[in-house]
Amino acid sequence: MKRILITGATGQIGTELTPALRQRYGTEQVVAVGHKKEPAAQVRSGGPYVNCDVRDKIALAELVRHYKIDTIYHLAALLSATGEKEPQLAWDVNITGLFNVLEVARLHGCAVFHPSSIGAFGPDTPHDHTPQVTIQRPDTMYGVSKVTGELLCDYYFRRYGVDTRGVRYPGLISHTALPGGGTTDYAVEIFYAALGDQQYTCYLEPTTRLDMMYMPDAIRAAITIMAADPAQLQHRNAYNITAMSFTPAELAAAIRKHIGDFKISYEVDPIRQAIADSWPDQLDDSAARSQWDWAPSYDLERMTEDMLTRLGKKLRAQVSKAQGDEDGSG
Ligand code: NAD
Ligand code: SER
Repeated sequence: MKRILITGATGQIGTELTPALRQRYGTEQVVAVGHKKEPAAQVRSGGPYVNCDVRDKIALAELVRHYKIDTIYHLAALLSATGEKEPQLAWDVNITGLFNVLEVARLHGCAVFHPSSIGAFGPDTPHDHTPQVTIQRPDTMYGVSKVTGELLCDYYFRRYGVDTRGVRYPGLISHTALPGGGTTDYAVEIFYAALGDQQYTCYLEPTTRLDMMYMPDAIRAAITIMAADPAQLQHRNAYNITAMSFTPAELAAAIRKHIGDFKISYEVDPIRQAIADSWPDQLDDSAARSQWDWAPSYDLERMTEDMLTRLGKKLRAQVSKAQGDEDGSG
């Protein structure tokens, strides 16, 4: 029976991956690890929840030993925009944290899922149908840490036989937890704005094309690759995966099909624009499709409709709870 530990469990992915893994493997089998950030109710109360800084190897090893962990989903990291604000901290969390996880996994016989990113590519990488194996010379600290992470995971597999696996996620869109400081966050913020005052000021140019994915597909990818036949995994760490590719103007047009009055304007942030410009427009995910049957379920239209429906419901519930609290009936 699997015993799973998830670092970064309070983040955008962890908030949805934790309940998904608990549903699949049992609530007591999945230990959520937070750090500083307040966890959502389903993470804190749906099963074991503990706090740990991933840079503390001794504490991490103790958790793995105590809970008899055999699989670690290592999600704790600083994302691209935050990483450019604090590059030294980004290296420390992303690389010291990963190194600790791999060492603990080596000593305790755990498998490791570690997500890489479109951020592992850089300005010299072919932007269109970016191949699985290609030039990786990113110019952000986030990207440097992601390439290093891919290589470290490969090393621990080859040298020590640690069962490391991973995907290169594109920008992720979700309605449960807010994104944690990435360059692709606009694609989530825009939905909150559309359902609020129906206007959004985007920090990227209207024509900036990036790969994106809806969270249910991202969660399925993380679970599927860890269950895949290892004999089929030629790339193991860092499979290109994607679901859709769009620009801010195209996303706004998709939203406008549901909210006719929605307006978008642009005030470009040069730092995030430069990061976005260095990333692929569209990944070639054929290796993942052929080696572990990867296929996304959501395209731009389907994701937009689902986001507006589910986020709308969540925001309306928050408003009526606040009103109930105010008049004492909640
Ligand atoms: P997030 O920023 O939402 O969450 C990261 C979590 O890491 C936070 O909950 C934070 O509390 C935790 N953390 C930070 N420092 C820590 C430390 N020192 N010790 C322990 N925990 C710490 O990130 P996310 O979007 O959930 O991303 C998870 C992983 O997926 C990251 O490796 C990220 O690079 C990767 N990824 C995410 C996206 C995306 O669009 N969300 C895309 C590509 C790759
Ligand atoms: N969504 C992430 C970011 O923008 C991509 O890794 O940082």
